[in-house]
Amino acid sequence: MAERPRVLVTRQVHPDAIRRMADVCELDIWTEDRPIPREELLARVVDKDGLYCMLTERVDEELLARAPRLRVVSNMAVGYDNVDVAACVRRGIPVGNTPGVLTDATADLAFALILAAARRLVEAVDYVRAGRWQTWSPSLLLGHDVYGATLGILGMGRIGAAVARRATGFGMRVIYHSRRRHEEVEAALGATYVDLNTLLQEADVLSIHTPLTPETYHLIGEAELRRMKPTAILVNTARGGVVDPKALYRALQEGWIAYAALDVTEPEPIPPDDPLLTLPNCIVVPHIGSATQATRRRMALIAAENLIAGVQGKRLPYCVNPEVYGNGPDKE
Ligand code: DGY
Repeated sequence: MAERPRVLVTRQVHPDAIRRMADVCELDIWTEDRPIPREELLARVVDKDGLYCMLTERVDEELLARAPRLRVVSNMAVGYDNVDVAACVRRGIPVGNTPGVLTDATADLAFALILAAARRLVEAVDYVRAGRWQTWSPSLLLGHDVYGATLGILGMGRIGAAVARRATGFGMRVIYHSRRRHEEVEAALGATYVDLNTLLQEADVLSIHTPLTPETYHLIGEAELRRMKPTAILVNTARGGVVDPKALYRALQEGWIAYAALDVTEPEPIPPDDPLLTLPNCIVVPHIGSATQATRRRMALIAAENLIAGVQGKRLPYCVNPEVYGNGPDKE
């Protein structure tokens, strides 16, 4: 009998995905609920044909050099800034991701953060828990209207469009800036394309949905934050590195903007003594955009299908570097 492909799985994921892969592969699973330590990862990948990893693992030259048999990297996330895709291309290794299935869960969380920031929900909960609620007051915990406000979307991909769709139900005006125009979103949702400057100046809520690339690293820094309204809310459910955290701290502390709600940080996890966590006008949650039971199961299954296709030498259903197949980009 032919030897089954060997696969390293870097976290305990949904059992349906594990079962699916175990039908075809020999699995080596890191079962602890924390990222696999780097040395352990490098040691275990040596004899593997496939790597099923999370956004917490750095897949770079060093790792690839240790894994001469590797035929596929399957990342259980839509974002893949943790993977050196160019290095994978040089070795002819396809990289898979999980687009589509986490769009609505992430958009829901972005909207939850918009509402939580605008209406100061976390402060309000803390206020009651601290036993400070003595009476109704006309000036207690006043926030900002979401209904009728201008939503600025930075990055009009699937998730940006899903947030824009939710915003129409709140009577929001939607403007966006993206690498390219999205006429279909403009027609369907009445969103208006603007340049970055206009986006920053006009948004009451700036919601970030752009992938992290060398071009978007610290795209929102001091100059950009200073252009925003003093009443503006910044929401980031994309990647922490898109926002310069030092500039954001100053912006929140000195009142260049009113509030920030972050699902992602730089670094991640955010250290408990990070100054951002001392600010009453900053909410941070631990990268839970896609964290619903159904969504994580779907992500795990798509990543399993990518993995299996890769170890079997077939085209990945969702491949971020289709140039490894030598015949141009995949259609999404
Ligand atoms: C992703 O998929 O890139 C999210 O950040 C985690 O689900």
